[in-house]
Amino acid sequence: MKIFITRKIPDRGINLLKEAGYEVLVSPEDRPLTKIELIFSTQGAGAVLAQLTDTIDREVLEAWKASVKVIANYAVGFDNIDLAAAAEFGIAVTNTPGVLTETVAEHTFALILAIAHRIAEADRFARAGRYHGWEPELLLGTDVSHKKLGILGCGRIGSLVAEHGVKGFGMEAVYYDLRQNEALEKDCGAKFSSTIEGVLSEADFVSIHVPLLPSTHHLINAERLRLMKPTAYLVNTSRGPVIDETALAEALKDGVIKGAALDVYENEPEINPVLKTLDNVILTPHIASATLETRQKMGELAAKNIIEVLSGRPALNPVALKR
Ligand code: GLV
Ligand code: GLV
Repeated sequence: MKIFITRKIPDRGINLLKEAGYEVLVSPEDRPLTKIELIFSTQGAGAVLAQLTDTIDREVLEAWKASVKVIANYAVGFDNIDLAAAAEFGIAVTNTPGVLTETVAEHTFALILAIAHRIAEADRFARAGRYHGWEPELLLGTDVSHKKLGILGCGRIGSLVAEHGVKGFGMEAVYYDLRQNEALEKDCGAKFSSTIEGVLSEADFVSIHVPLLPSTHHLINAERLRLMKPTAYLVNTSRGPVIDETALAEALKDGVIKGAALDVYENEPEINPVLKTLDNVILTPHIASATLETRQKMGELAAKNIIEVLSGRPALNPVALKR
């Protein structure tokens, strides 16, 4: 049986599939496939290992349903797939949770530290030949230690970011989630807020870790940005459309909040041009899980999910419809 991989990934997942006896076809293109290409390139494959940049809508699924039994998304997020249509056509969908939690939490903390200490701005300053000697007030930043860390969405990644803040930097954590996380409260004294507003108004750093759903689209809008402290920073390593990017750019320009660090964007790969002109913003190109170790583990987990389903066993990481 054939397995189609929509874009080249690190080798371990590919090797696992080959060792299990499957014929593996990897897209030869060094770019995301177009919809037409997605529809036609599976060539009767029994499974597709897909990327978050592949929009797998009803039309694509309709074309795949005759042969494809499982789509293993090479990501923890799965907002790129029409889950209702997949369920209707009997196609299993899986993701890669767990294996990327530490890496994404590290990247999130790298962004928190970098925006507070103005790392990217300082690097640009030094490279531009503007450093003429130590100065008492050169590029003054903000301490992270002992500040209040707000977490929106306290699943695996949000919880680990909270833990890093509390245990590593003596921060206080306050979080909002649909469910209360008692383990985290016990482990690091994180405080539950029953509202998003509660987190926004108290926190010095707000970090977003929710999935993209109809209910989280533009979760952060102009009105909610105004609830944040003018000294606060916003960090997003979840999905871009969770923030109204135009409203955020305005807020950053007008000093409504102090700064932002973003790994994801509302219309990827485009980035709001205003954001690119601002010094109080750090922009990374959707790389929060991008370490070789983690990308290998994601490939292995995606491959294992495919092998399980094609062998008639339950998927290890099935994803289900959420509201
Ligand atoms: C990356 O954004 C992922 O969902 O894994
Ligand atoms: C994703 O892995 C999450 O639950 O945060």
